Amino acid sequence: MSTTQSNSQDQKNKDNFSFSPAGEKFKLPGKDDYQEEFQRLKKLADDAHAEDKEVVVVMGVGFVGAVMAAIVADTVDEKGRPTKMVIGCQRPSTRSYWKIPVLNKGVSPVKAEDPEVDVMINRCVNDKKSLTATFSNDCLQFADCVVVDVQCDYLKQDLGNMRTGEADMAALEATLRTIGDIIPPECLVLIETTVAPGTTEFVAWPILKKAFKKRNIESEPLLAHSFERVMPGRKYVASIRDFWRVCSGCNEEARNRVDKFLREVLNTKDYPLTVMDRPIESETTKIVENSYRATILAFLNEWSLFAERNGVDLIKVINAIKMRPTHSNMIFPGPGIGGYCLPKDGGLGYWAYRHILGFEDGDSIFRITPEAIDINDTRALHVAELTRDALRNMGHYIAGASILLCGASYRQDVGDTRYSGSEIVVRKLTEMGAEMSVHDPYVDHWYELETQDTYPAPGLSWSRFFRNQQGLTEISVKKKLSDSLKDVEAVIFAVPHEHYLDLNPDDIVKWAGNPLAVIDCFGILSDDLIRRYFELGCEVKGLGRGHIQRIKKTVLKNV
Ligand SMILES: NC(=O)c1ccc[n+]([C@@H]2O[C@H](COP(=O)([O-])OP(=O)(O)OC[C@H]3O[C@@H](n4cnc5c(N)ncnc54)[C@H](O)[C@@H]3O)[C@@H](O)[C@H]2O)c1
Repeated sequence: MSTTQSNSQDQKNKDNFSFSPAGEKFKLPGKDDYQEEFQRLKKLADDAHAEDKEVVVVMGVGFVGAVMAAIVADTVDEKGRPTKMVIGCQRPSTRSYWKIPVLNKGVSPVKAEDPEVDVMINRCVNDKKSLTATFSNDCLQFADCVVVDVQCDYLKQDLGNMRTGEADMAALEATLRTIGDIIPPECLVLIETTVAPGTTEFVAWPILKKAFKKRNIESEPLLAHSFERVMPGRKYVASIRDFWRVCSGCNEEARNRVDKFLREVLNTKDYPLTVMDRPIESETTKIVENSYRATILAFLNEWSLFAERNGVDLIKVINAIKMRPTHSNMIFPGPGIGGYCLPKDGGLGYWAYRHILGFEDGDSIFRITPEAIDINDTRALHVAELTRDALRNMGHYIAGASILLCGASYRQDVGDTRYSGSEIVVRKLTEMGAEMSVHDPYVDHWYELETQDTYPAPGLSWSRFFRNQQGLTEISVKKKLSDSLKDVEAVIFAVPHEHYLDLNPDDIVKWAGNPLAVIDCFGILSDDLIRRYFELGCEVKGLGRGHIQRIKKTVLKNV
């Protein structure tokens, strides 16, 4: 066999399989598998209906869908009897198919810091048998309710210019077409995906109506919207189940149905449900909520720079302000914002105003939200400047310098790396010629780097905004801090994981084998620790921490 033939055979073999993050290999279903799968699902649905249970299909078992599916499957009535049979439905693509067999073993397809996720999924799949997953959309024909948890992205064309981006609704629209073609007429469709305002009524509902018309169904599709406020971390399940929800429906029946459904599956007794008149109000709630958060975080960027240049420690300023209960939710922004939602949601609103709702004056009315997102997206570039300056003060060049970034995820004590500020730090410093390594106790694989040619999709990696990025696919996330620091010239504390909060400067210098530059992105270092680093011959810089120079001067005076 020639090399070309064997390469194409390898590719074909690869195309037939889906690999889980743990490296398990699963063969994609073939044509013959669908009939058997249909029979399995039909039996499950028939049995559930015979026991008076509702069949709920959750489309998309990703970060949100997998856990929402388990929460619904865990629902019981006043007598403690399960009331729902849940079928998680997932595309059988090479990238995602593995989630189905993994979930069907009772194992969570999403890595969560919340121990309840694994326990609940295992309980629902193996004990209660109220949760299963499938690749076959045929399950939709048995559904009493369909929950849509597929992604809807906002694709930015430029780094630091959100206005040139656009909403990517392809997965959502495809899912809705499939749903419209298959569901029973009386099935409730609940969109939980964060969407551009107007999507439920002006994009999704027409898709379902058209499908119903083609099927000669005379009734109106029952369509509702209720966005997720899920927060990755140790309270993952509670952030879905024990949290305030907002919902609405396209007509009165859909509104009543979604109200009833959410009251059955969520803890609305302790966390009251808000029912809005129209889905655009529920959609706008989510977008405004996240744009507000992105804006107050971006607002501190200019004061962070002010502080650095004028001997002010912004961390102390914020703590002093937070003493006032009215200002107690101020958070220091760190090296950018990150996470799946805050960098994109304002973009969905800006985009919808023109492309769904038809207004041409978006640029004159939307001035704050785009600016906030642009500031957040580029804040991490300043960390590269601080690192360069700290190294220069120690007589080192950034080109060729060995730098360790501590913390790849977007927030403390979680393993979620989506759109993290750390990624921009690594990319910028790599562009400037630094030799980067990464430590993170919560992250096993940094997919944004390791699979940058294909993730989040071909051509969409942030690598496209920087030069010299090829080598980053080789980066592996290290777990042992003492080993990771060996011979390092600069360390960047990018995320306040608890592992980084009590580190002793003497240990850090000992593990590095030499004094090094220390960059504090989150106000992790106390004044005493900063002083000790200077005494050990290190250089220290920090976002928003202008008082460091003062500490340095006192240490140098005493030498
Ligand atoms: N992750 C969060 O922290 C978070 C927080 C609040 C809101 N949200 C919102 O929840 C929604 C879902 O986000 P996520 O983080 O779960 O995304 P995700 O990418 O982890 O999951 C989406 C899943 O849908 C699947 N999918 C796509 N098209 C499909 C189809 N046609 N049929 C079946 N499955 C399909 C994908 O393969 C994937 O598994 C988004 O709108 C997001 O903005 C997410």
